[in-house]
Amino acid sequence: MRPAPALRLGVNIDHVATIRNARGGDHPDPLRAAEIAVAAGADGITAHLREDRRHISDRDIELLSKEIPLPLNLEMAATPDMTAIALRHRPHAACLVPEKREERTTEGGLDVVAGEKHIAPVVQALRDAGVRVSLFVEPDRRQLDAAVRIGAPVVELHTGTYCEAWLHHREAFEAERLRLAEAADYGASLGLEVHAGHGLTYDTVAPVAKMKPIAELNIGHFIIGEAIFVGLEESIRTMRRLMDEARAEVGAALK
Ligand code: PXP
Repeated sequence: MRPAPALRLGVNIDHVATIRNARGGDHPDPLRAAEIAVAAGADGITAHLREDRRHISDRDIELLSKEIPLPLNLEMAATPDMTAIALRHRPHAACLVPEKREERTTEGGLDVVAGEKHIAPVVQALRDAGVRVSLFVEPDRRQLDAAVRIGAPVVELHTGTYCEAWLHHREAFEAERLRLAEAADYGASLGLEVHAGHGLTYDTVAPVAKMKPIAELNIGHFIIGEAIFVGLEESIRTMRRLMDEARAEVGAALK
């Protein structure tokens, strides 16, 4: 009997910092959120240090690196400033994301094909420092091929369009699910470790959790929003349970 392949949950705590920063004080504290995530069964903590520092701060990254016993996944733009910060903290992992100041959230994957030249040295510098690098990309074969060319060991598939389809274009949902599943299979066939995230909710997580090549999901906004109603520990535990149940179905199918 083969065990179900493991599926890790990285809890993104950016929006705890968004609420804190709305009043400029120190409450609610992202570090406390990370401690609750540890207790609730998260496998890692994810935080995006944006260039405009709209939520997570440099101090948050310092404290998360020092005080949280789980792997830290630092989301960052592929810029010299951010690379220097990442090299100072040497998080377990760094996920390179595109960043535009005016966007509300990360609105699309990194264009690795177009940006190969400037992304490759960042990947190399982080790898040399022992940081596990992932590239946040659209579920698109050309992007996965480019990720391999520049030596990234991990990709995170952008689930934004898939989640949008669930909300606003239900007729397109199955096609988007298949696009993700196909990209996950293709990435794994290239030897990439495949992660996924962005916009996932209780409604949309299970079909992604059932995609066997996917090793990790990074989820933030929905978990933090739901925590307003049920508490953070409960919202993480529920997400974890939905992921685990979906993955167990795949495991059962493998037996
Ligand atoms: N993965 C990446 C690379 C992201 O940029 C984000 C958003 O910061 C997430 C996952 C989590 O997305 P959400 O907050 O919508 O769950």
